[in-house]
Amino acid sequence: MKAYEVQQFGIDNLASVNREEPSPKPDEVLIKFHAASLNHRDFMVVSGTSNPRMKLPAVPFSDGAGEITAVGEGVTKWNAGDRVMPIFAQGWFDGESSDEKRRTSLGAGAQWDGVLREFGTFSQESVVRIPEHLNYEEAATLPCAALTAWNALTVSGRLKAGETVVTLGTGGVSIFALQFAKLSGARVIITSSSNEKLEHAKQLGADETINYKTREDWDNAVLELTGKAGADHVVEVGGSGTLAKSLNAVRIGGHIAMIGALSGPGQFNPIHVFMKAIRLQGVFTGSRHMFEEMNRAISIAKLRPVIDRTFMFDKAVDALRYMESGSHFGKIVVKIGE
Ligand SMILES: NC(=O)c1ccc[n+]([C@@H]2O[C@H](COP(=O)([O-])OP(=O)(O)OC[C@H]3O[C@@H](n4cnc5c(N)ncnc54)[C@H](OP(=O)(O)O)[C@@H]3O)[C@@H](O)[C@H]2O)c1
Repeated sequence: MKAYEVQQFGIDNLASVNREEPSPKPDEVLIKFHAASLNHRDFMVVSGTSNPRMKLPAVPFSDGAGEITAVGEGVTKWNAGDRVMPIFAQGWFDGESSDEKRRTSLGAGAQWDGVLREFGTFSQESVVRIPEHLNYEEAATLPCAALTAWNALTVSGRLKAGETVVTLGTGGVSIFALQFAKLSGARVIITSSSNEKLEHAKQLGADETINYKTREDWDNAVLELTGKAGADHVVEVGGSGTLAKSLNAVRIGGHIAMIGALSGPGQFNPIHVFMKAIRLQGVFTGSRHMFEEMNRAISIAKLRPVIDRTFMFDKAVDALRYMESGSHFGKIVVKIGE
């Protein structure tokens, strides 16, 4: 089968290889992948900025979707032909995360090969069904980005209709956050460096938009839009460079879901955290249980993930370059197979 391996770091070093097609052991299913999607983390894994001591060679990318083509002895949950996605952390089914569960994340080392390959075997417990109305490319966007946004808003945030959510930028996690927030009846304020992307966000239901390049004090813009009160939730993907402004933009007693570190260095004043009694909550993807809950909501709402561009399998390096350019809105997908 065809696969990609990180043998040495660097996007241009991503190696196209032939590997033996795996066969399922007892309690495993064999998945023929049709699509994979990119997360910022995949870019870091391939370029070596995620973990320079990562065990190589390793198949990158955590998020894929495909069909089961064979099942091992003792598999009771699945049949050939079922459409599934492997879960991000293969050992995290329920409850809180742990070191042990976190270490089972796909696509970041040789121990848990990722999905940028034609076939893979997975425990029957570590895959979930694709919502019926989604095709493989759409489904491939769910395991990390969508689940993280879902966890941030509905689990960590306990989001209620009528609340105000601020999402930073228009990448994969942020656009899912916009979609889930609108699904829950929330008001969404979204920021971006591009007016064109902000226009696109409006078409997806964003109530207010702020260009964080032309309005550098976007936190004050949020205060203006909320009658000085501040937002109920901020989906924080910027990290050090945006946190001080997120702390200013959130209301007293509000919630900031700490998810990413896309921005450059910066400083924040801890006094704001306690004087405003802000709930600053780190969010790490989510469990299989959360994934299944999210899929139920996606199915009922017939929600469709936003795919910016799809690359063919032999153009995976171009897909990574496109992510590096930051031109995308929502998700980037790689089609696998015919
Ligand atoms: N904790 C977790 O479990 C988890 C899960 C998934 C992702 N993450 C992290 O979350 C972050 C987002 O991941 P992703 O895959 O959604 O990334 P992505 O799709 O690559 O998002 C890129 C977009 O982020 C926006 N952005 C960049 N710098 C920004 C800044 N200073 N202020 C506001 N927006 C900014 C830009 O939007 P515009 O072009 O519109 O300006 C950019 O296009 C990454 O740091 C990733 O590692 C964490």
